[in-house]
Amino acid sequence: MARILVTGGAGYIGSHTVVELMQQGYEVLIVDNLSNSNIDVLDGIEQIVGRRPEFLNVDCCDYVQMDSVFIQHPDIVGVIHFAASKAVGESVQEPLKYYRNNILSLVTLLSLMNEHKVPNIVFSSSCTVYGQPDKEHLPVDETAPLKKALSPYGNTKKINEDIIFDQAHACPQLHATILRYFNPIGAHPSALIGELPNGVPNNLLPFVTQTAAGLRSELKIFGNDYNTPDGSCIRDYIYVVDLAKAHVKAIDRMLNVKDREQVEVFNLGTGRGLSVLEIVNTFMKVTGVNLPYTIVGRREGDIEQVWAEPHKANTVLGWKAETPVEEVLLSAWNWEKKLRNIN
Ligand code: NAD
Ligand code: WQD
Repeated sequence: MARILVTGGAGYIGSHTVVELMQQGYEVLIVDNLSNSNIDVLDGIEQIVGRRPEFLNVDCCDYVQMDSVFIQHPDIVGVIHFAASKAVGESVQEPLKYYRNNILSLVTLLSLMNEHKVPNIVFSSSCTVYGQPDKEHLPVDETAPLKKALSPYGNTKKINEDIIFDQAHACPQLHATILRYFNPIGAHPSALIGELPNGVPNNLLPFVTQTAAGLRSELKIFGNDYNTPDGSCIRDYIYVVDLAKAHVKAIDRMLNVKDREQVEVFNLGTGRGLSVLEIVNTFMKVTGVNLPYTIVGRREGDIEQVWAEPHKANTVLGWKAETPVEEVLLSAWNWEKKLRNIN
């Protein structure tokens, strides 16, 4: 069976994707420098799948080491490139760390893919490239204009998309699938793998589950005076397992479908926008746990509302986000309980 190189495969989305790839029969090689993940994730993957993925602790920016990864694995037919730094706030404080890691890792990979004749790359992009879409572009589809990034992190996604298009133009043998994720949440139903945020979480769901677990005294909801039905911001929360399955579809398509564009872009979202208050209330309803929260001022740089038009992914990729949000929120809570030994 074909081997897929998964960079950042020890991370949150990467680990869930490795599970889905292996369950579909793919051989996987994870390359991860563990800068934002833990080696124990391999145990979780092995328990779920019944096989351990091959793993190499290598920095994707290290050309020499990555070269030997490709030399030692001539059976690699495609790459899924998750490895990146992703903390939006930190990227404002340390922009060069983000430009270096996120751009150099992609440039290194593309150079080596060219050298070793590996033709297929799936790239983790983000809905952040759309910024706040104008009203006529909501829900947002892949043809909506891209907006100036609000953070160096967001800018690396835009620049990396441009690099992929430029390299594909120069190298007709290169094929790329750019996946723009909306807001990934939840954990594997086994609660054997999930999200492991570093320090105080910035993202909503880990903050919610940590508050429910008693690690944080209360959730702060950033603003209730937005122009939305209940005044809080709206996002498209996508289950990480559904998201992982989209990567398998993307790889299947790149390996098996001849008639496709050289670079394809897909939005990965549910098509449904949910407000922060809806998430909080649904979480309390399905878990039965009281979640203390207060409304505070807006967070700088927040988008008011964005959700996906996933029609292209539904039809062309043959993928749909199907898991109900109640189940997704419960999976996030079960993972947090497991981490904290709560019954
Ligand atoms: P994550 O931090 O959990 O996973 C990233 C993994 O990459 C980590 O295991 C980290 O150790 C590894 N890594 C980072 N730099 C590396 C390097 N130079 N060499 C080798 N390994 C390296 O993040 P995630 O949430 O799983 O995100 C995966 C990808 O999806 C990232 O590219 C991220 O920007 C993108 N994305 C994430 C979200 C989100 O909300 N989680 C949304 C949109 C896009
Ligand atoms: C969601 C909503 C907050 C925390 C970020 C990145 C984006 C993408 C996903 C990678 C917002 C509100 C949050 C809290 C709150 N990542 N919130 N209290 O801002 O949509 O996007 O992660 O590409 O690039 O910017 O996600 O989870 O931070 O916030 O009220 O303690 O929850 O205001 O409305 P966001 P988020």
